[in-house]
Amino acid sequence: MLVREMQEKIMELKKQKDFCILAHSYVAREIIEIADVTGDSFALAKEAMKMPQKNIIMCGVRFMAETAKILSPEKTVYLANPIAGCPMAEQMDTDLLSQLKEMYPDYTVVAYINTTAELKTLCDVCVTSSSAVKIIEKIDNDKILFIPDCNLGDYISKTLPNKTLKLVHGGCPTHARVSANEAKKAKEEHPNALLLVHPECLPGVVEQADYVGSTSGIMDFAMKSDAKEFIIGTETSIEEHLKYLCPDKKFYTMSKDLVCHNMKAITLPDVYNCLLGEMGEEIKMSDEFIASARKPIDEMIRLG
Ligand code: 13P
Ligand code: SF4
Repeated sequence: MLVREMQEKIMELKKQKDFCILAHSYVAREIIEIADVTGDSFALAKEAMKMPQKNIIMCGVRFMAETAKILSPEKTVYLANPIAGCPMAEQMDTDLLSQLKEMYPDYTVVAYINTTAELKTLCDVCVTSSSAVKIIEKIDNDKILFIPDCNLGDYISKTLPNKTLKLVHGGCPTHARVSANEAKKAKEEHPNALLLVHPECLPGVVEQADYVGSTSGIMDFAMKSDAKEFIIGTETSIEEHLKYLCPDKKFYTMSKDLVCHNMKAITLPDVYNCLLGEMGEEIKMSDEFIASARKPIDEMIRLG
């Protein structure tokens, strides 16, 4: 079946079966085109709650589908492709976090949204890359235990020097692949371009950036800027979307290694087959578990 034909069938099926499709900006353009909501992790978390449809397909990684279910427990939520996990979200388990909480009892536990639902049950507040600085600034405690991304944690520490952040080893293997030297080389190759990077990148990369922000932040910045050339320091799909959205501007990738294979695992046929009931995984959680995992997410929405 041709891509256009499959997209048309998806549009018909989702209407017939009362589905909405949420897609993170890291997925392929052909999925973005059939989605009801697209954006960064924060946008997806907030918009999932507002959608009138009874069923949700998440075209993103597992923690995003879990977050949608936690915020909309009355809806049926499917992860389009069950193999799409986020390695960073699985780097820490509840035993380790419980030990850390005992070691730092007077710290507020802040979790990047890229964590498992189980881990969220032990946290005070969640943040996303676009909301982290704003939310942590508002927390009424200067001592923050931040899990699991040390690179985002380092960026927050430098932006909010009045806060004391305890960081534990962890991070995104995709963004951490790019060295400060590679970023420097990309800037030398494109001296007229602005460097836009995600805070999941290494500190040596972030230090060289002209703008640091979430996936949506990077896209908005590039679309609104008067500049004409940009080096994109996040997953390569953002560069592809921007090339499509701003044909008069030039976009270069900071590194061709910036590929998240988990996000890339989600395909248009996965979405189609999910609508047919032949693919996808329904996210199931008990009411009690949802109530506990929801607290830090509600706090994120309240403070953000
Ligand atoms: P944002 O969408 O919040 O920028 O996060 C990027 C990411 O790595 C999601 O997994
Ligand atoms: Fe996880 Fe990194 Fe992929 Fe985002 S880009 S889903 S943080 S592995």
